[in-house]
Amino acid sequence: MTKKEQKKIVITGGNSGIGYATAEEFLGRGYKVLITGRNPGAIQQAVYDLGFPAEGFQADQGSLADIQKLKDYVRSRYTQIDVLFINAGIGKFGPFESVTEAAFDEVMDINFKGAFFTAQQLLPLVKEGGSIVFLSSSNANGGMPGAAVHSASKAALNSLARTLSRELAPKRIRVNTIVPGPVNTPLAEKAGFGKEGLDHMAALVPMGRVAEPHEIAKMVGFITSRDAAFVNGAEISIDGGFSVHPLAG
Ligand SMILES: NC(=O)c1ccc[n+]([C@@H]2O[C@H](COP(=O)([O-])OP(=O)(O)OC[C@H]3O[C@@H](n4cnc5c(N)ncnc54)[C@H](OP(=O)(O)O)[C@@H]3O)[C@@H](O)[C@H]2O)c1
Repeated sequence: MTKKEQKKIVITGGNSGIGYATAEEFLGRGYKVLITGRNPGAIQQAVYDLGFPAEGFQADQGSLADIQKLKDYVRSRYTQIDVLFINAGIGKFGPFESVTEAAFDEVMDINFKGAFFTAQQLLPLVKEGGSIVFLSSSNANGGMPGAAVHSASKAALNSLARTLSRELAPKRIRVNTIVPGPVNTPLAEKAGFGKEGLDHMAALVPMGRVAEPHEIAKMVGFITSRDAAFVNGAEISIDGGFSVHPLAG
């Protein structure tokens, strides 16, 4: 009997938060895990903490040159992968009137353009029967003040995933989108909200709290598994009811 080949996942933005939790989840599922990020020290620490067979690759997902280097590296290391989790993203918020061209480009380059070209460039490495998962946000469907660019970048991601779920189906590659509400990750600090911001968001969630990163990771694990073999083109909310309109129904 031939030995079953170990499955492989590439996680963009895997040195922190949801990406890191997903790396833990897939190591637990017996995968080889490659995480990316911009900060070499954070990647090194994450790989050390995750343990073998996790490995890291420094890449700015907003840079097409880095995406190309990532593709070459993944091809040389793994030949093909089972799952591509496009998770890297930033949260930048501020009043509409104060959005500069530079801020607009930074958010769009990482959250949308980078995601678009990461999917395009790594697609040839995704096995038949494999999965691409995009990490969106409940902001994609909402109208949170101060989130004009952020929300648009995530809405564009949802649109891309919908198209790809149909376009890639003949290749037997499933494409799904995870749509979290607020999650307890370092992003809140980086976006300038801090713990107070998360507490404020928790109060708006019907279940009275924000998500923990492993709760998102578990869904990535499920949706890419055989048990979800017929789930394609789905936008899966994980938000404790945050996005359900209080007056609907
Ligand atoms: N936390 C929330 O409430 C929430 C809610 C909905 C959706 N999301 C989405 O979830 C995803 C993960 O965020 P998180 O909450 O886990 O935040 P996080 O802890 O800040 O993690 C973000 C990850 O993305 C990486 N990253 C950011 N820009 C990158 C770039 N240009 N190239 C490569 N890697 C990059 C970061 O690493 P480096 O800094 O080293 O680059 C880090 O590993 C994001 O797409 C975010 O928009 C988060």
